[in-house]
Amino acid sequence: MIFLGIETSCDETSIALIHHKNILKQITYMQDHNAYGGVMPQVCMREHLHHLPIVLKKLEADISLQNVDGIAVTFGPGLAGALLMGIMVAKGLALGLNKPIWPVNHLQAHALVVRMTHDITFPYLLMLISGGHCLLAIANDVDNYQILGQTRDDSVGECLDKVARALGGPYPGGRYIENQAKSGTLNKMLLPIPLQHIFGYDFSFSGLKTACIQWIARHNVISEGQRKDFCASLQWVIAQTLCQRLDYALRHTKLKQCVIAGGVASNDYFREQLGKVANAHGAQLKIPPAELCTDNGTMIAWAGYEYYRKGLPWDIDFCAQPRRSIDASYR
Ligand code: KG4
Ligand code: ZN
Repeated sequence: MIFLGIETSCDETSIALIHHKNILKQITYMQDHNAYGGVMPQVCMREHLHHLPIVLKKLEADISLQNVDGIAVTFGPGLAGALLMGIMVAKGLALGLNKPIWPVNHLQAHALVVRMTHDITFPYLLMLISGGHCLLAIANDVDNYQILGQTRDDSVGECLDKVARALGGPYPGGRYIENQAKSGTLNKMLLPIPLQHIFGYDFSFSGLKTACIQWIARHNVISEGQRKDFCASLQWVIAQTLCQRLDYALRHTKLKQCVIAGGVASNDYFREQLGKVANAHGAQLKIPPAELCTDNGTMIAWAGYEYYRKGLPWDIDFCAQPRRSIDASYR
């Protein structure tokens, strides 16, 4: 089975063709929202509209879409207008090529793509850390998730992106912070560890984000060394809260497999620190390769293939669901 995946939930226009566990081709166009300091929804929608035909044409240069057996498209959560662009094109292709189409939950796609690159069976503990989400859940099956906790306010990616912006870095800022932190000193700047004394599954990052932005605002001039130490300290604090939550979840669920997913999971420092926690519990930590952590068409194609293998019926009668939760059942 060859699956086509279309992802347009935020600022990446990404399409991919997969054949079982092989990526035949993936093309991603990363939009540039630097001028706005964050994703501007109207621009995002227009960019998808402009780039979808271009990336499709590039994909078709090598492989005819007639060879596709199934189409998968993100239908939520995400920005309404952006989702609609992908859905419109996917439905058009499904009708024109007479192929079945599966609406894919973006968060489930983040959770599932690890099964394409690693051997892992259900159930597993899932920590999903991205620009839009931050949650802990038990993945019981392809379409069955039990949320243990989630952020009470901002996601970890939002915190990284806004702090990077305050430091004069690019958008998105996670990789910038990671690169700056590489030669910085850990925990030199004292920053608050979110919910440090409240054990449980919830996260919170708005307080940390505000503390960082205020620290930056208080310092008119920040030397290169200070910036690096600051980024290293921020990463250290974030790792503390993520590790504390993972430790708690592994202890209480007693699961021996865990997965970290989402764009922030491409961060090497977080991967290493969370790996130590999993080790301490005798649990296996599996993380998709960095390029499959950030939004991509492959994970959508893979999720569609998983839905198909599970026997979930294809259906062209669906709309964008901007606020869809990971634990929503398939239809
Ligand atoms: O999963 P994703 O591509 O989009 C959403 O579904 O939200 O995640 C994007 C987030 C952004 O906040 C970005 O700054 C962050 O992932 N990110 C990183 C790294 N690469 C991307 N955060 C930390 N370290 C990285 N290397
Ligand atoms: Zn995502």
